[in-house]
Amino acid sequence: MRSPIPDYLADVMTACAPDEGGQVADYIPELAAVDPDQFALCLTTVDGAIHEAGDSGAHFTIQSISKPFVYALAIQELGLDAVLAKVDVEPSGEAFNELSLEEGSGRPLNPMINAGAIVTHTLAGPPADRFDRVLAGLSAFAGRPLDVDESVYASEAATAFRNYAIANMLRGHGTITEDPAAVVHGYTRQCAIRVTTKDMALMAATLANGGVHPITEEEVVDDAVVRQVLSVMTTCGMYDAAGDWLTTVGIPAKSGVSGGLIGALPGQVGIAAFSPRLDEHGHSVRGEDVFRRLSRDMELHMMNAAQPARATIRRTHTVRHAEGGDARVYALHGSIQFAGAERLLRDLVSRADELPTELVFDLSDVHAINATARRMILEVIRRLTLEGHHVTLVDPGATLPEPDSGSGVRPDVVGSVGEVSRTA
Ligand code: DON
Repeated sequence: MRSPIPDYLADVMTACAPDEGGQVADYIPELAAVDPDQFALCLTTVDGAIHEAGDSGAHFTIQSISKPFVYALAIQELGLDAVLAKVDVEPSGEAFNELSLEEGSGRPLNPMINAGAIVTHTLAGPPADRFDRVLAGLSAFAGRPLDVDESVYASEAATAFRNYAIANMLRGHGTITEDPAAVVHGYTRQCAIRVTTKDMALMAATLANGGVHPITEEEVVDDAVVRQVLSVMTTCGMYDAAGDWLTTVGIPAKSGVSGGLIGALPGQVGIAAFSPRLDEHGHSVRGEDVFRRLSRDMELHMMNAAQPARATIRRTHTVRHAEGGDARVYALHGSIQFAGAERLLRDLVSRADELPTELVFDLSDVHAINATARRMILEVIRRLTLEGHHVTLVDPGATLPEPDSGSGVRPDVVGSVGEVSRTA
């Protein structure tokens, strides 16, 4: 059987294709010459499934979509504080190529506009091997070796007048200390790295997957770096259309003037669209339409209220304990975070007077417990034990490894409820 997902993606493309609105970017001569009708779409899950539609193998230059990835590499290399000292994280509400700096500090407002990205580029490594590091880093995000479109590079380098002006402004304020023209050349080369729509979806999926490439399994950057990058993509990735994007689409995103558009939904998917005609903000017109449809049809808006807390306790029931007496079993499921753990604690506290001595937490259907939920569950086990209860964990998948609650308290761990009950 063929997966319905590529068929759905193809249907979305068919619905968006008639829109010929917008213009290809013409301030970079080489981009003005592209076929404006190109159109591709790719959706990649965090566990590496790739669903494609259209010409998802066609090459184009990454342009501003390089910015979040180079920002990630700079933070990974220097640490967040060092990067924040040079580039702020506030939405500018201005066009991507505005000549603007934060009053007083000389910092660009954020790393998604050109001023910020030019500074971030200089933070990606020492001048001698900076570009090699950028190329290697972006290749790791894509999971294959990328290269540079030399024609687009030469074309933009010859006409990047605004970027030379921005770099000179940054040099004047001391925000960069290198030769402004050389910095713009490096940044322009970064923008001229060639990708496909499939590459972009995998790069986005690496962000959605906490910095680990879904297929190569390389940890390209830490999850704390990813959180910073996705936050800035959310507030600044779509420039002066960020508010409209966040409310209507709700997926951390970044666009590029060659017509690429990526979105990374944490824990779920990386999505990429490519279609060269742009709106007045510099975003792909069809790409935006694609994302609006996917967000609506597939409920991908990041603010959609999930209900993990309510669902954490799948059921509670009582079994006869193997050593006599009753045991109360809490069968938990899903991915447990703060609210889910709080739900469990609340239930235990509210039933404190009626709980039998033997308590069983069945984690067989739990696939993840984050660090906060782990601390909370271990603490409630400690308190229950000090109050005279005996807690057993059913944890065949070691979802709560080394369950040491401190104070010498350690629950028994077994592989199935049958091991603690007479009549499982
Ligand atoms: O610096 C520039 O103007 C281009 N190399 C990149 C701009 C860009 O992609 C803006 N995004 N939509």
